[in-house]
Amino acid sequence: MKPTPVFTDLARALTGLLGLGCLLATTAPGSAAETVRLSSLDLSHVRQGYGKAQVDRSIRETPLTIAGHTYSHGVGTHARSVMWIQLDGGSERFTASVGVDDAAGSPGTVTFTALGDGKRLFESGVMKLGQPAQQVDLDLTGVKTLLLLVEDARDGIAYDHADWAEASFLVSGAPPKTIAAPVEAAVLLTPKPGPAPKINGPVVYGCRPGHPFLYRIPATGERPLKFSAQGLPAGLTLAADTGIITGDAPARGTFKVLLTAENKRGAAQREWTIISGDKLALTPPMGWNHWYAHYDTVTDRLMRQAADKMVACGMADVGYQYVNIDDCWMNAAKNRDPLRVGPLRDENQVLIPNRHFPDMQALSSYLHAQGLKAGIYISPGPRTCAGFAGSYGHEALDARTFSNWGFDFLKYDWCSYAEIAARDKSLDALQKPYRQMGDLLKQQPRDVVFNLCQYGMGEVWKWGEAVGGHCWRTADDLGFELDRIFEVALRNAAHREYSRPGAWNDPDYLQIGMVGNAANQSEPTPCPLTPNEQYAFMSLWCLMASPLIYSGDMRSLDEFTLNILCNPEVIEVDQDPLGQSAEVITLTPDTFLMVKTMADGSKAVGLCNRGEFSARISAPWSAVGVHGQQRVRDLWRQQNLGHFERQYEAEVPRHAVTLLRLWPVK
Ligand code: GLA
Repeated sequence: MKPTPVFTDLARALTGLLGLGCLLATTAPGSAAETVRLSSLDLSHVRQGYGKAQVDRSIRETPLTIAGHTYSHGVGTHARSVMWIQLDGGSERFTASVGVDDAAGSPGTVTFTALGDGKRLFESGVMKLGQPAQQVDLDLTGVKTLLLLVEDARDGIAYDHADWAEASFLVSGAPPKTIAAPVEAAVLLTPKPGPAPKINGPVVYGCRPGHPFLYRIPATGERPLKFSAQGLPAGLTLAADTGIITGDAPARGTFKVLLTAENKRGAAQREWTIISGDKLALTPPMGWNHWYAHYDTVTDRLMRQAADKMVACGMADVGYQYVNIDDCWMNAAKNRDPLRVGPLRDENQVLIPNRHFPDMQALSSYLHAQGLKAGIYISPGPRTCAGFAGSYGHEALDARTFSNWGFDFLKYDWCSYAEIAARDKSLDALQKPYRQMGDLLKQQPRDVVFNLCQYGMGEVWKWGEAVGGHCWRTADDLGFELDRIFEVALRNAAHREYSRPGAWNDPDYLQIGMVGNAANQSEPTPCPLTPNEQYAFMSLWCLMASPLIYSGDMRSLDEFTLNILCNPEVIEVDQDPLGQSAEVITLTPDTFLMVKTMADGSKAVGLCNRGEFSARISAPWSAVGVHGQQRVRDLWRQQNLGHFERQYEAEVPRHAVTLLRLWPVK
């Protein structure tokens, strides 16, 4: 409420007398007001998708200019840009002119939003390069926290140079100040596995007849555990103490096996089906990849350490299996590390690993001995993305080499192949190298899961399986988009109809815990995601049946990170044999449901809030696609929430997902 003029006059007289004008001017609303420029605030708290927020100039460091009009002050930023400003009711108005800066290139499309204590005060709609500025004039009476947001208008962040031009507050009380985004406490939700045995992992497993077979039964429970199996096809042997099954894959057919794990606390059983035929990866591959942890510093030693840790920390007990080398294991013509420079191939044209990898066969054997599988990486072009030896012109030999070395997974990364197919981006040209390698891998005497990495070009989800792929990246590197996991998930989920056993959309690796910054390939530091965002990351990936490939530093896995990676009920959503990717049901601009039908007829449901404030989200049965009473379970806490008649509703914090599973009550 504003004081009466009488009070104002009195206050002025008093302040003059006491010499406290300055103090009263900022504490008595309406008594006096001053203009505070947005660009005068501390901009170090601003989070944005590229570069740093600029004072009185555009992100390109040019004068702030929108549709030919130049502005003397303001903030130049880049989508996705998040600016939290604490007002404490001290500001009366906020005015600005907003638009895409003229220095941006095409496509340059953004949306500007202002939220006051969670309420939308301004929404620009999609703004394009060259479009005249929109005027913002907000009444901020009583507003405690203002949030200024610039988003990417759903077409990625390329050229999204956004200006809050001539942005100012009219301040009559507490001065505005930028603050860091709120961060919640890191709470451990996943209950610790009990001492009694429990068998985890997929219920179906695909292999090709006669090929080497390797499967480590994932199981928790106090060690020692004693494993046994009924119905194991001839040619396969189970090691009772480790639970590792080896031998030669059976002839074509479906084999129902009953697995048992026992310890002094009891016994657990699980039906497990081996399908020997053409298909591999009947459930999304799970494992670890070195890229976001070690970039071009990867070594044989780091790979072995990662494998040891995968077993020791319990990841292998919930289904993680592949230990995958990414780029930089070969030689390059030039590199800052002389141990990675050398001849690319020997006299027989066989690839020469660099000196950090003394013996590839010994490395894969080391992983196999622990029941784990080995993955490798190369490009169809002459060079990999990091400039190391590529396969171009040597594809058949390389496929044989990887198989001889004992690798079980190949990531084939487009990169310099662009030089080969530069002139011709036809579908045929995009498919050619993948079809070629897909055919070659099928000819090898071992099962090699084929991961296409070409960032979604040519709508790869439509043809990835036909060229022999088992999973395909649907977009660019997620390491550059970690501030947008919800948006990345929504884009990936748009291809849900192509997700099925043996054919998976891959939105890239799980980057939680300690990860290196993709932009400068730094040593691992704590990932930039809040605790709720990390839970959301895993929840979304599981709902979308994405490959679960962790890519953080295995050496420094902490309890919080492991609690996210290793919840068997959450992983079960990912590994469901139906292979469905969840359907997105949009509720509001900030909230949506993800609904996935599971093989047993139950539904996995994510109540998703990508907004900046907590939101009440309800999942009515009509939207979930169920009828009648449902038993609802909180998968992260592994707790039943009760029986519900028509809907389930919950308060979901900012940037969080509540993950549920619903079974009909009989
Ligand atoms: C590309 C890929 C990444 C990684 C790097 C390695 O950027 O998309 O996943 O493999 O290459 O150089």
